[in-house]
Amino acid sequence: PPHFSIRGGDLFIEGQNCVDLAEQYGTPLYVTSEDRIRTQMQGYRDALSSYYSDISVLYAAKANGNLAVFQILASEGAGADVFSSGEVALALKAGMDPHKLLFNGSSKTLMDLALAVELGIRVSVDSLDELHQLDAVAAEAGKVAEIAFRVNPALEVPTHPKIATGLASSKFGIPHQQIPAAYAEALACSNIKPVGIHCHIGSQILDVTPFAKAAEVMVRIAREITDLGIKLEFLDLGGGLGIPYNHTSETAPSPAEYAAAVMPVFLAGIKECNIHPELWVEPGRSLVADSTVLLATVNSVKKAHKTFVNVDAGFNLLIRPVMYDSYHEIVVANRADQPIAGTYTVAGPICETGDLLAVDRALPGVQEGDLVAVLDTGAYGFSMSSQYNSRPRCAEVLIRGGDAALMRRAETVDDLLASMVTPPWL
Ligand code: LLP
Repeated sequence: PPHFSIRGGDLFIEGQNCVDLAEQYGTPLYVTSEDRIRTQMQGYRDALSSYYSDISVLYAAKANGNLAVFQILASEGAGADVFSSGEVALALKAGMDPHKLLFNGSSKTLMDLALAVELGIRVSVDSLDELHQLDAVAAEAGKVAEIAFRVNPALEVPTHPKIATGLASSKFGIPHQQIPAAYAEALACSNIKPVGIHCHIGSQILDVTPFAKAAEVMVRIAREITDLGIKLEFLDLGGGLGIPYNHTSETAPSPAEYAAAVMPVFLAGIKECNIHPELWVEPGRSLVADSTVLLATVNSVKKAHKTFVNVDAGFNLLIRPVMYDSYHEIVVANRADQPIAGTYTVAGPICETGDLLAVDRALPGVQEGDLVAVLDTGAYGFSMSSQYNSRPRCAEVLIRGGDAALMRRAETVDDLLASMVTPPWL
């Protein structure tokens, strides 16, 4: 990717040397390129709007919850797919338009529903129980709640089973066969106005065909519910493309290829029903993943059964390798121009055998004190971090050209203690 370069053997992000950043801010450290996020957002916007004028890109907030990331995307015109009151607060604080938010989730509380009603945020309703709860909450507030239903399209997709969200067996959405009846039920609720439809088929999908199939299901449903008398204001096709985590063996479709697969289906479908809904998409990973590296210092190198490179970041800060067996490229940031010297397993500091960031990787001759960069960690990296082993979370730095600034300070041990309360009998 264009925001990376190697100069004098060191890895640079935009105009910043990772080795200098590690020295200045300490490690572990997440480092994010602002320009890369803007470029990715513009890629979706341009690709979709070359087919249709009424499009909105809703950033899937779960991918990276830093306020600065929300602010960058808001300034590029993004709305957000939000799953919690925390994500709502971040999106609004970043200046996003409440009308460009969709409150998603299969298990919302009455408080979540009340918040959406109060702020006029549309809700993607995931069950009939939720529909009736929302109707009651809206009635109490003297308002009408605008909704979509989350459609479960029952599609098999080529990705890790834990992140395939539109399988018939998945917890998300209402089975597509039951969707027309659900809309009919919504029409009968006095404080509900159905205005959209929503689906999501899965994440880290490297092929556009499943997205086109989902679009076909969605336009079929659009037709069915238009016949019920519903005036569709938006059709939300869900999450975005996967990314090539393995830089040598994988390729990912571009937003242009996505649009070429999906837009003809969408355009034909809406023409047939003579409707002009906004088209929404909800990419997360592909907007932010490759903007970011996780920098970690090598505490020691140990030749044992394998050669372990013991670094100061583990699954407390990046759980993807452990949770989904996912692959992230590793660069020795201070030896980025050196030849491969052997096979190394990069291990974190957590007290679990499984705490490995990379297994059997060909790397230059890495030594204690070196700096390792774990690539493509801007999505589901910090946002899935924890304080396991009572480790404070690390800082995050934003890069713009030659400038660097904190976008999140590191937590301290005092932060860990601050929320604890000693019961009076101890
Ligand atoms: N919209 C909805 C309703 C979603 O459930 C998701 C992701 C997205 C949008 C964003 O999809 P994306 O563009 O990022 O593929 N933690 C996992 C990924 C979980 C994704 C769940 N839903 C990982 O690290 O791979």
